[in-house]
Amino acid sequence: MALQFPRVHLRQEQKAFEHRSFSPKVIGALVEAGYQVTVERSSLDGSYKRIFEDSEYQGVGAELVDTGSWPAVAPGAVILGLKDLPRENFALSNDHVMFGHCYKGQDGWQEVLGRFPRGGSVLYDIEFLLDEHGRRVSAFGYFAGFAGAALGVHAWAWQLTHPDEPMPSIRTHNGGRGYYRSEDELVAAVKLALADAENLTRRRPNALVMGALGRVGRGASDLLKRVGLKDEDITRWDINETKDRHGPYEEIIKHDIFVNCVSLFIFPAGSSNTPRSSSRTRSRRSSTMTCSPKLAASSVSLRIFPAIRPIPTVSAMLAWNQKPF
Ligand SMILES: NC(=O)c1ccc[n+]([C@@H]2O[C@H](COP(=O)([O-])OP(=O)(O)OC[C@H]3O[C@@H](n4cnc5c(N)ncnc54)[C@H](O)[C@@H]3O)[C@@H](O)[C@H]2O)c1
Repeated sequence: MALQFPRVHLRQEQKAFEHRSFSPKVIGALVEAGYQVTVERSSLDGSYKRIFEDSEYQGVGAELVDTGSWPAVAPGAVILGLKDLPRENFALSNDHVMFGHCYKGQDGWQEVLGRFPRGGSVLYDIEFLLDEHGRRVSAFGYFAGFAGAALGVHAWAWQLTHPDEPMPSIRTHNGGRGYYRSEDELVAAVKLALADAENLTRRRPNALVMGALGRVGRGASDLLKRVGLKDEDITRWDINETKDRHGPYEEIIKHDIFVNCVSLFIFPAGSSNTPRSSSRTRSRRSSTMTCSPKLAASSVSLRIFPAIRPIPTVSAMLAWNQKPF
């Protein structure tokens, strides 16, 4: 008897600035394997527009359907997406594959999870998908570090070339497109910004990457090299550099850019596995850009232990146009 595959429906992401999606290559592989795949047309709104063209999905054999049509798909299909759904309350009658962002106690996790049993459906959370060796199948830490460091360098350069003018929203980057179509395009833009800043400083910036041996740290270090920093400009620290020393670490503020990439686990209040930078008043301060790809906006640690500030100069999530001090 022929195996019955469920229909797969790729939804248009509903999180602002989430231009990523499953690539046409992945969708093509599903079609090739015998799945019937429908793909929602990309939103035309610049904050949501998908990085891949609709025609690329058509080209690999998927059928295009209306944007946002997934709630009306007949039960039995699998709804595919990357990021979490908008906060709504209707029961979910199809199984979903996505990063659900609820198993670490993120805000509203009960409501999110409650929607599945109410509709008789299942959440397959990509974050917890492991291979036979217990390793995560889908981790994007390398590119979180790469993109986070790119924004850090860009913001550092902006501070020098546009004193007292907040860096504009990412929505306006890349000539108003709001995203970069490729790694090379992003690197080229950051290099341009850096060249303008270096014209003023007459030197390359230096950077300290904390957690440099991890996925996020390796991505951050690679970006720094791609935009022109030399090995001697990049101080790579990992556990060996901090395990025998308690902070504060003066070195952090002696670098222009500090990229924090360590894992922050849940720990007893009052302690931290994260190195602490020294007080700005105690020594000459050079660091002007703290970049923390590790702190996703939904950071559980920040929410549960707001008193534990991994980088003591930062106490809250800030928008680009807000100054921390
Ligand atoms: N913002 C995002 O989109 C995003 C994406 C992926 C990961 N992350 C976060 O980034 C962090 C790092 O993730 P990862 O996948 O690179 O983890 P990882 O385990 O691969 O790397 C973390 C590194 O930090 C080092 N480290 C831990 N404690 C340290 C200390 N006290 N001093 C110096 N080094 C220390 C570890 O030795 C390790 O090399 C996590 O908190 C993760 O949740 C964020």
